[in-house]
Amino acid sequence: MAENIHPIFDQTLSRTSKEELLRQRALVIWMVGLSGSGKSTLAKGLEFALHQRGHLTQLLDGDNLRSGINNNLGFSETDRMENIRRSAEAAKLFLSAGVVTICSLISPTSEIRNLAKSIIGESNYYEVYINAPFEVCAQRDVKGLYKKALNGEIKNFTGLDAPFEEPQNPHLEIRTYQDNYEVSLQKLLDAILPRITFA
Ligand code: PPS
Repeated sequence: MAENIHPIFDQTLSRTSKEELLRQRALVIWMVGLSGSGKSTLAKGLEFALHQRGHLTQLLDGDNLRSGINNNLGFSETDRMENIRRSAEAAKLFLSAGVVTICSLISPTSEIRNLAKSIIGESNYYEVYINAPFEVCAQRDVKGLYKKALNGEIKNFTGLDAPFEEPQNPHLEIRTYQDNYEVSLQKLLDAILPRITFA
């Protein structure tokens, strides 16, 4: 923690006044799952569908964040922790602006997810487990990463030589190995729309 800093908390414009302006309730939707499970695809689809319904949204995707604000981080446990810390802090800023924020990051351990939840605040954090087993993701292998990892060309690959702990109590679980894209997206919308609707 830096010393001699004095954050301003009072007399700043409140999140509520921004939500009133936007006619929506802000929320951070934190999408967890293996590489290739469908996080990014569903996150993009969700953002588009919410936008069409008049919501202001922001998508924070792991690969994109790792090309910018997190571009000095790799895939060690320490770096993943810092990756999630920064991403959660970024999400918190959008939250305070009243924006519905969709985060799609592997977030592989309960410790990492607890960190995100603690930064964002429990009541603002909505965890969605995008569930597809390792074998299914390896079969899909959209980016060719599983082939490389199984050939030993990528170290610390999630689910192979780096851990993936399944979320035990997500708010919502989407099984992309059972449900197709349309069904999965509808389940997301059904769960999220009531939570962001301005009453
Ligand atoms: S984490 O664990 O939450 O910090 O990961 P995240 O920031 O979401 O980054 C995951 C994307 O990085 C690519 N990639 C890897 N994933 C897992 N393990 C290793 N070693 C790795 N190396 C590169 C991959 O494209 C991930 O994107 P998704 O969208 O999950 O497939």
